[in-house]
Amino acid sequence: MFNTGNHLHLTFAIPGILYPEKSPSQLDHAQLTRTFAINTIGPLLLMKHFTPFLPTKATKLPKEPEPGLPPYAVWLTMSARVGSTTDNQLGGWFSYRASKAGVTSVSKSLDLWLRGKSGDNAMAMAYHPGTVKTGLSKEFWGSVAKEKLFTPEYAVEKMVGVVRNIELEQRGRCWDWRGVEVLP
Ligand SMILES: NC(=O)c1ccc[n+]([C@@H]2O[C@H](COP(=O)([O-])OP(=O)(O)OC[C@H]3O[C@@H](n4cnc5c(N)ncnc54)[C@H](OP(=O)(O)O)[C@@H]3O)[C@@H](O)[C@H]2O)c1
Repeated sequence: MFNTGNHLHLTFAIPGILYPEKSPSQLDHAQLTRTFAINTIGPLLLMKHFTPFLPTKATKLPKEPEPGLPPYAVWLTMSARVGSTTDNQLGGWFSYRASKAGVTSVSKSLDLWLRGKSGDNAMAMAYHPGTVKTGLSKEFWGSVAKEKLFTPEYAVEKMVGVVRNIELEQRGRCWDWRGVEVLP
């Protein structure tokens, strides 16, 4: 079926919400449940329903990829630098950080599964877009230097650029808008 080239080439699993708790006293069961449901379980269910449309090992991909596309299918799940345990210097944002750490973890698991199912025909990665001027970050626009607060258009341009240039040896890990790895 997918030898025709009619398979997913690029997939962006984007959902995310943020309740910016500063201390454990602010943790709320309903908000915690909602955060994990959207940020971590959301991408997992997208994987469940859409990975059947990725190329398998048997799929014959064209020798020359379509202009602007990488030579393999790429599944990107939106993580965030604050999901990095290594990078966590400030604390806070308990639920968001943990839900995004989960995203980086499930991206790795998906990539390991794809190695078996798709070989080099499909890979998964997690991504950090920088700080982007959207509703999610609105409360913090004032505390970010102007040049570090990206427009959504610029963020998308950067994201597509990273995905287009991603190499197979980079698979399964989290990359930022500059193409620099975000450690788990
Ligand atoms: N903005 C930043 O600075 C920043 C930094 C790092 C990471 N991120 C991540 O980037 C991603 C996009 O966020 P954004 O900044 O573009 O914020 P946004 O404009 O608020 O977008 C949030 C996204 O999540 C989806 N979503 C929210 N609730 C949902 C639900 N119940 N079911 C399904 N989808 C739902 C929205 O879908 P609809 O459009 O259909 O509502 C939208 O695509 C998120 O994963 C976020 O964590 C953002």
